[in-house]
Amino acid sequence: MTNDADKKAEIIAHYNDVAATYDQQYDPANLYTLEKYPANYFRLQNLLTRLMDSDAKRIYEVGTGEGTPITAMAKAGFEVAGCDISENMVDATRNKMEESGFDPHTCQIADIENASSFSNQLTGGQFDALIAFGVLPHVIDDVLALKNMHSIVHSGGKVFIEFRNKLFSLFTLNRNTKEFFMDDLLDGIDCQVRDAVAQDLDTRLALEMPPRRLQSARGELGYDAIQAKFHNPFTIPTLFDEAGLKNLVFHWYHFHAAPPMLESDIGAGFRQESIKLEGRTDDWRGFFLCSAGVIEADVCD
Ligand SMILES: C[S@@+](CC[C@H](N)C(=O)[O-])C[C@H]1O[C@@H](n2cnc3c(N)ncnc32)[C@H](O)[C@@H]1O
Repeated sequence: MTNDADKKAEIIAHYNDVAATYDQQYDPANLYTLEKYPANYFRLQNLLTRLMDSDAKRIYEVGTGEGTPITAMAKAGFEVAGCDISENMVDATRNKMEESGFDPHTCQIADIENASSFSNQLTGGQFDALIAFGVLPHVIDDVLALKNMHSIVHSGGKVFIEFRNKLFSLFTLNRNTKEFFMDDLLDGIDCQVRDAVAQDLDTRLALEMPPRRLQSARGELGYDAIQAKFHNPFTIPTLFDEAGLKNLVFHWYHFHAAPPMLESDIGAGFRQESIKLEGRTDDWRGFFLCSAGVIEADVCD
């Protein structure tokens, strides 16, 4: 059994490893050609639109990654600061900020689950908004992380927090679908019933899909070898409420026009049709067709 410290070390090792290539997803030139679907590109466009429509001026980013979102926000005129748990990601963010003429030291190493690691960044007061993209799947204690995010923003401000959508499992018809049935939908149901369902699902679902990403190209830990949790949009409001985050709005992105295992059979049409759906961030189909979403919530006392 991996303990919490080991889990953190694996997460840091993974992101230290991918820091050099992570920005490919943000290049619009790659939208139709990149092997990995450029979901982060759409997520950032949606965020910038929401921020421009808000009153926010000072924005804090948790998990800056290689620095594209924080630099884009700085270029858009926002005052920014941020942190990342991975040293290589912080270095990449600082380089990107510096290249664009912004203060690189507004980003530092910190863990959102350890308030003392970022408290020095609050000496100028709390922020108007916070973004955390790709972070919630990796935290050990959701409520602690959300409360710490809350503490960074003043009352009346906003958070934009990305999550991996558990309901998408109903559309994928693969191993994740079986896990959702057995671990969530049929939790607490009699063993005989569960066994019958499990056997039936074994004949219907593509259990070998999706291929597990256990190793990176350089032999380091792949994304599926580290903790990367899904969250259920039906239970998220209760979780956020515990941390004083209310009035949730779901913004969907990373649409799938068909179950993902059909991508190679369908070919280019799969990506073209999926990209056409991006931008419909409030479409109810996002609850099922999107592998991820961003929750916009109000920070309340
Ligand atoms: C999926 S990447 C996303 C990067 C960036 N937010 C973006 O959207 O391009 C997630 C980032 O969160 C960082 N991270 C993971 N757990 C964290 C934690 N507990 N505290 C701070 N950063 C964390 C990782 O090191 C990684 O750089």
